[in-house]
Amino acid sequence: MQIAIDGPASAGKSTIAKLLAKQMHYIYLDTGAMYRAVTWWALKQHLPLNDEQQILQSLGTEPIEFVPAADGQHVRMFGTDITTAIRSEEVTNNVSQVSALPGVRAEMTKRQRQIAAGQNIVMDGRDIGTTVLPQAAVKIFMVASVAERAKRRFKDNAEKGITVPLATLAQEIAERDYKDSHRAQSPLKKAADAVEIDTTHLTIPQVVDAIVAVINEKK
Ligand code: C5P
Repeated sequence: MQIAIDGPASAGKSTIAKLLAKQMHYIYLDTGAMYRAVTWWALKQHLPLNDEQQILQSLGTEPIEFVPAADGQHVRMFGTDITTAIRSEEVTNNVSQVSALPGVRAEMTKRQRQIAAGQNIVMDGRDIGTTVLPQAAVKIFMVASVAERAKRRFKDNAEKGITVPLATLAQEIAERDYKDSHRAQSPLKKAADAVEIDTTHLTIPQVVDAIVAVINEKK
């Protein structure tokens, strides 16, 4: 079974998708981490972020690896553990520009489908239900208010020692929502057959339960 979880930035997708995958013994793929990895690499190589030719050429066939670790999946590329680096403010604030490049999307979509082939998988992102896995048995569209999402990111940041004011985070989230939903290629959009879950006032276990209920209905 393929489970697609889409939605805007910081709506809780990856937290929920990880728990769900663990509970169901499914593979978990964080597609946002893949776009972040490409952005990290382009920034590191000082490539122009609007030049898909250069970015794709420099990336080549280098795999973006997800390695199981005691504290969750680690992301590796070009021999480097980039788990923390891809969550930096610099990557976060540039990823929407790189992910809007059609060639980058085509390459990531191809890799995501290869990973999903023949597997029980929970995949989270922006375009999983609409583009990457349009045949997914279960599609969830997770939303939450901008204020709530900024609060969640503020808390995550505090744990990592990052201090960005709440108002700045809210503005960054709103900007990323806008860019992700207005790009030409595979914009963030609820699939017609997706079930929308507003997580603003729900706890993590409540969201997991809501999704399990959707899965059980499909079985
Ligand atoms: O999910 P996360 O916030 O880590 O995603 C980072 C960025 O990657 C998004 O803001 C979006 O620009 C891009 N993305 C995408 N398509 C996906 C997953 C993420 O365009 N399937």
